[in-house]
Amino acid sequence: MGVRFAGWGVGLGERVVTNDDLSQTLDTSDEWISERTGIRSRRIGGSASSLGIVAGRNALNDAGLRGDDIDHLVLSTTTGDRVIPGTAPIIASELGIRGGAVDLNAACSGFMYGLAVARGLIATGAGRVLLVGAENLSRWTDWEDRSTAVLFGDGAGAVVLEADSTDAVRSLNLGADGSLADLIYADHGGFIHMDGREVFRRAVRIVVESAERALHDAHVTMDDVSLVLAHQANQRILVAVAERLGVDFSKVEVCLDSYGNTSSASIPLAVDQARRAGRLQKGDTVLMTGFGAGMTWASAVVTWS
Ligand code: ACO
Repeated sequence: MGVRFAGWGVGLGERVVTNDDLSQTLDTSDEWISERTGIRSRRIGGSASSLGIVAGRNALNDAGLRGDDIDHLVLSTTTGDRVIPGTAPIIASELGIRGGAVDLNAACSGFMYGLAVARGLIATGAGRVLLVGAENLSRWTDWEDRSTAVLFGDGAGAVVLEADSTDAVRSLNLGADGSLADLIYADHGGFIHMDGREVFRRAVRIVVESAERALHDAHVTMDDVSLVLAHQANQRILVAVAERLGVDFSKVEVCLDSYGNTSSASIPLAVDQARRAGRLQKGDTVLMTGFGAGMTWASAVVTWS
């Protein structure tokens, strides 16, 4: 049994914070942030549950479904409301989903890991799974540290996955290397710390390798791919990845300029933007790819449904 995408939705922090806003309190500038990252503003506010509820409700509406049509909820988050309990049951309860509800944490690769888990649930009998990526990174950000404070934003995205006789997911490549755990981390109650330069260097190599494996396993080449939906961390990472994959940058969806790095939410936010712009059509071959703390990475070749 395969999966199809039945509906998408997003939720965003209510407050728009521009680079100029940040330069009021930090030794930084719009010029530095824009040139080094591509980020111009980010959305701040909400919790993983409140943002996830909005995204989930929008995805259900887009699919023409209600909570009790959904068997299980899978939530990708690094910034759940509390350490205990998980945030997925709170979102599920609010949306009227009565089946299983579980949090998973693969940092910025989490939405892709969630896709793998949700697809597995469908392969073992579930009819529909709501996959949500929701992050409240602003709570874990040290607003006095200019090297990280300029990067992150709050947001959520969701998709309803439905059992289907054909499979939208043609290949999935997942990986992790815990020996790199100290490159990006936050301890309980602490802030996010990151060796940005090293993450940058490794991310480009990891994403390219993972994407090439996913393309190989799906028996397609980059020429067959009409759109790349990648984790939105830094525009320079996206440019370097596109160059190494040999794809024109016009085929790479970019939404980090408006939202910053929203970790688990960034890929579904990119999907939402691409859908609204008419850049995703049924039958298109799409490459989805993410990387993040762990380090973790994940790529999929998908036939748009
Ligand atoms: N404003 C002005 N100057 C700054 C700022 C800022 N906001 N931040 C850092 N600088 C300074 C540094 O202090 C440094 O100054 P120095 O040369 O005097 O020491 C200089 O700018 C260069 O710093 P670098 O860290 O080398 O800058 P770089 O070009 O590498 O850009 C950045 C930093 C944007 C963090 C980049 O390395 C990056 O994007 N890395 C990848 C991050 C990422 O992908 N994270 C994803 C995972 S996040 C997750 O999983 C939750």
